[in-house]
Amino acid sequence: MVQELTPPTTTSIRPELEAFWMPFTANRQFKAKPRMMVAAKDMYYTTEDDRQVLDGTAGLWCVNAGHSRTRIVEAVQKQVATLDFSPTFQMGHPGPFQVADRLAKMLPGDLNHIFFTNSGSEAVDSALKIAIAYHRAKGDGTRQRLIGRERGYHGVGFGGISVGGIGPNRKFYGSLIPGVDHLPHTHNLEHNAFTKGQPQWGAHLADELERIVALHDASNIAAVIVEPVAGSTGVLIPPQGYLQRLRQICDKHGIFVDF
Ligand SMILES: Cc1ncc(COP(=O)(O)O)c(C=O)c1O
Repeated sequence: MVQELTPPTTTSIRPELEAFWMPFTANRQFKAKPRMMVAAKDMYYTTEDDRQVLDGTAGLWCVNAGHSRTRIVEAVQKQVATLDFSPTFQMGHPGPFQVADRLAKMLPGDLNHIFFTNSGSEAVDSALKIAIAYHRAKGDGTRQRLIGRERGYHGVGFGGISVGGIGPNRKFYGSLIPGVDHLPHTHNLEHNAFTKGQPQWGAHLADELERIVALHDASNIAAVIVEPVAGSTGVLIPPQGYLQRLRQICDKHGIFVDF
């Protein structure tokens, strides 16, 4: 079948779909020929024309327990009917304290304080802010530079696109936040194509961090942020020893590392 290459005109768009501006989506194409999901259960979506579609990415990795699980539905219904919302500025409600306490007990080592956010983007921007503010509070106020990685995706906030390494997500937004360098990405088909599990080739790419530290001096660097397993650039598994090497270099230079 020959694909339609001409972009649809606005007249072919269903008018009730016009107002919603969809992220990371070719809006006119979608709205001319929508792929609309109207229900979901466990691993499957139901489309508006009543087809079952396997949700292979768990709703972009945030419905990992399965769709519309009865226990989760009931818990959400119960909470909304009991206390739908209470701010956590200057007042509190038991829910976030209970979840934070449970999480802290599950997490390894000294990961024992939880800061909740509404999205990954907000989490990344908050983590970058916390790293810079932490160093400053400790008397290391010159540690402000951030290091991300090429091909990295860290969300849509200015911090996230600055440390992120996806060109089209950055190119429209001027100078972004200042003082950011990028490690090279680890994707290499020549060495790593058809690898099962963690590739053997590539740990040496972590040593690029030493080059960046030598350039700016560790006293100016706050944090390094990389995805342990890159997702949005195509799923990239870290080479064997790569993350450990990044951790060693960061520890040596007193730099925060966020995987
Ligand atoms: C590593 C990473 N950081 C941040 C984000 C942004 O998360 P959100 O879409 O919830 O803002 C994503 C989303 O895929 C991600 O994979």
